[in-house]
Amino acid sequence: MEEIKAYLLSQTKHGLYQMLPPSLIAKVPELEKFSFTGRFDDKRFDWFSNKLDFDGKKVMDIGANIGYFSFRLSSEKNALLTIYEPHQPHIKAIESIKSVLKIPDKKINCVNQGVGLDDIKNLPEQDIVLLFNVLQHAGEDYDKKYVKEISQWRDYTVKYLRALRGKAENMVFQMGYSWLGHEDNFCNDKDIIPFTVSLLQDAGWKIKHCGVIGNVFNTYYIDCAFAGPKAKHPIINQFDWFISRTMNKLKILKKDYLFMQRPVFICHR
Ligand SMILES: C[S@@+](CC[C@H](N)C(=O)[O-])C[C@H]1O[C@@H](n2cnc3c(N)ncnc32)[C@H](O)[C@@H]1O
Repeated sequence: MEEIKAYLLSQTKHGLYQMLPPSLIAKVPELEKFSFTGRFDDKRFDWFSNKLDFDGKKVMDIGANIGYFSFRLSSEKNALLTIYEPHQPHIKAIESIKSVLKIPDKKINCVNQGVGLDDIKNLPEQDIVLLFNVLQHAGEDYDKKYVKEISQWRDYTVKYLRALRGKAENMVFQMGYSWLGHEDNFCNDKDIIPFTVSLLQDAGWKIKHCGVIGNVFNTYYIDCAFAGPKAKHPIINQFDWFISRTMNKLKILKKDYLFMQRPVFICHR
């Protein structure tokens, strides 16, 4: 418990990124005050977890952070998780949560390693892979040798996603749209959906569902039409941008509008 608190009070890159899993809060209610996020973890989970059958399935969570999705898939959907997370404080937090919840390694197995392009061939075969918000960091957090500038990112990412297709039947995917989180954008905001669709399709994935936040005030994921070059994200417009920035400044709405723009895709190989 003290280890979990120490982690939650520390500030590291990608730290305090996710909410705490509800099973942990049920067991240790005093931790609830640490569980917040502007990244809609609960809403993401609600949307994708009902669209695939996770029961008894082998799932790998690449870039699991502190394991919000892994813990929920394990406890609520009976999935068998393998976590890949290179950042040691995150892994320590996950191991501490596992020990509080008495979760054995055979239900959630942690590997304190990142997954770079060359590592994919050594991954075990899985039913489902979760890959959320990792790939935009290629070139800084990992694989610097392959992605030295933004122009190299797309070809690299197609290779990465293609290699991953050899390892899992299904993928749940989300990414950020500025390289490294602080450099240029990969595409215009209005092109986020067609840009990602072509990335996934070039890697050979068949897209089954695309989920987006449909309304800046009511931040649930809804299904969105994704086919065609003009596939449109419902909240990407000047009005929403203005409203959410103003509300943020006035501290009425503490939501990350850029994160709200990131669609979630469910793909089949
Ligand atoms: C932006 S956070 C996203 C966390 C989580 N997937 C989510 O969407 O809520 C990126 C995470 O990926 C991890 N990471 C960075 N490079 C990685 C790599 N090569 N393989 C796996 N995880 C990586 C970071 O430590 C961090 O926890």
